[in-house]
Amino acid sequence: PAAPAAISATRNIIEKMQTTKKRVMIFYGSQTGTAEEYALKIAKELKHRYGLGVLIADLDDYDYDTLSQFQQDWAAVFVMATYGEGDPTDNAVAFMDFLESPEFEDGAESIPNLQYLVFGLGNRTYTEFNGAARKMDARLQQLGAKRIGERGEGDDNKSMEEDYLSWKDDAFGALAKCLNVEEGTAAEEADFKVSEVSDVPHEKVYLGELSARALHGTKGINDVKNPFAAPIIKANDLFKVGTERSCVHAEFSIEGSNIKYQHGDHVGLWPVNAEVYVEETLKILGLSHKRQTVIQIESLDPALAKVPFPQPTTYETAFRYYLDISATVSRQTLALFAKHAPNEQAKGVLAELGSNRDKYREVVADHSMRLHEALEYASKETWSIPFEDIVSSIPRLSPRYYSISSSPKLNPDAIHITAVVLQYKSAGNANKNVYGLATNYVLNIKQSVNNDSIAYSAPVDAQAIAPPQYAIQGPRGAYSRDGHFKAPIHVRRSNFRLPNSPKIPIIAIGPGTGIAPFRGFVQERVHLARRYKEKNGPDALKDWGKFYLFYGCRRSDEDFLYKDEWPEYSKELGDSFDMKTAISREGEKKVYVQDHLWEARDELADAILNKRAYIYICGDASNMAKQVEETLQRILGEAKGGRADAEGAQEVRLLKERNRILTDVCV
Ligand code: 2AM
Repeated sequence: PAAPAAISATRNIIEKMQTTKKRVMIFYGSQTGTAEEYALKIAKELKHRYGLGVLIADLDDYDYDTLSQFQQDWAAVFVMATYGEGDPTDNAVAFMDFLESPEFEDGAESIPNLQYLVFGLGNRTYTEFNGAARKMDARLQQLGAKRIGERGEGDDNKSMEEDYLSWKDDAFGALAKCLNVEEGTAAEEADFKVSEVSDVPHEKVYLGELSARALHGTKGINDVKNPFAAPIIKANDLFKVGTERSCVHAEFSIEGSNIKYQHGDHVGLWPVNAEVYVEETLKILGLSHKRQTVIQIESLDPALAKVPFPQPTTYETAFRYYLDISATVSRQTLALFAKHAPNEQAKGVLAELGSNRDKYREVVADHSMRLHEALEYASKETWSIPFEDIVSSIPRLSPRYYSISSSPKLNPDAIHITAVVLQYKSAGNANKNVYGLATNYVLNIKQSVNNDSIAYSAPVDAQAIAPPQYAIQGPRGAYSRDGHFKAPIHVRRSNFRLPNSPKIPIIAIGPGTGIAPFRGFVQERVHLARRYKEKNGPDALKDWGKFYLFYGCRRSDEDFLYKDEWPEYSKELGDSFDMKTAISREGEKKVYVQDHLWEARDELADAILNKRAYIYICGDASNMAKQVEETLQRILGEAKGGRADAEGAQEVRLLKERNRILTDVCV
């Protein structure tokens, strides 16, 4: 049953805690959903381990002007992702602004009763690792709030799960002590109730649709809650090197949708699990014969755990479209599932994988084992794991975000993406290929689009040579009507935008697929150039600022993205466009984008310091953003007649504050 409307509607945080009689509030600042997932994990553990009443809140869902009334026998947990260069996520901006609001007198202990924990999510390859969590933590303490355990800091580049696991026990222990609760006092109780039902009309059953509007075929705003099933009108390889490295260009039609986008925005693409994994998972769980049984899922604690995907649905649909069974299974999930093992030996194996970090790494993580593989490793017998436990432990399949590589001015009805297809050997087994979920989905769609045939499941042995395949044609035709393959997409706004005036110089730095948003930028300028020339003749661009594009790839004849397009754009933009390509593996010595930045330092320093240039950085090359920033510090330090780590660093800081250095973390 849903919570009464009056309670769920309040934006008053204190009222919410009091009316629901909870003691812990878990706030999340989340951009792509990871922090939200961790918030949920924390909530469940506090509830099940200590019997605590817990609420979860999107930071944007509440007002904070009553925060000073936070009760002493409550606690808060902040799960804060950092986005871009030390920035809070979109949904945390208002909260961060609140903490800085002028009504707080400096030095006054304005929120003395708030006791809290922080777990930050960041990525070490960017500067200001966990910047948002650190800033918030420092500010809360300034305002008199009390942190009751160490701050946790997860590194998304490497070790998020382990960082979390090694933080949580001490942190939760400290929290339990503060709230005066004992471990083990909680009754074992499930978060969900799953029932198999037979009387639901077929058209009410979700078979891959992501919203009620998609199920009923009614129109509405297309956003994260109601993605648009976009026909894929084109998909091709931009390059392919051996079997390990390739890059796909895909075009999604948004005709007839109400999606609007701008250059620099991101597109969320909802992936599908490969059929082989769907089959294997159903099999090991003993659900193959019940694959199409309709299930209804109810949350037993709606304030804490919402049903994470549309229902009623079927077992098969849940594993194909809604649950992430492709990712490496987490250590915590294994620990939780041990008790459902088919025999004592298997129970021991799973319990050990769940509790012994080294063993888990060696057996599970290094082999990128999925849920079904880890269960099989422990026992090939059928595992009767209650579906409610699956629903509460296996993360939902969430959209993958890409930088849009087109401009709506040149492509009003299409969104382009430029995606590296991830495929690598797992660390522990050179014979096992690991495939990036969404990009291989795109690749698979590409093959299907171009062969004009629908891909079905590939045999398991075929995995070594071919990427896993997907059931693209949903039973309801959700992804394949009118002859086109479709994928659900939605657009997410970004602040990665060109300044309005073309007179301002642009310095865009994007090696590899980091070029993606800049293709959109350049297209945007091409469109503008055409209009200017139409109006003012061929000299119309003469007072335009320069658009420097620093690109990097390995070899000019191998992975140079959109190689044929740049000369065309260049023709239209004339001298206002200056592309410099750093080729890293042709000469004797590696040349990187930052080397070209340094070579052009005089021009660039002039553009930045005297002409108010904007600097954009995008890319997945590890440490690139950091090294580019160091180079900018050197350039500006020198230009100011000072030092990189003093005047240069100061200048870079100022540019960031003024949003004249912008980073796109999503490629
Ligand atoms: P490499 O793979 O030869 O080292 C796109 O991936 C390009 O980015 C490649 O030419 C790659 O070079 C380069 N690259 C890798 N690491 C980088 C870094 N830290 N800074 C700049 N470019 C980098």
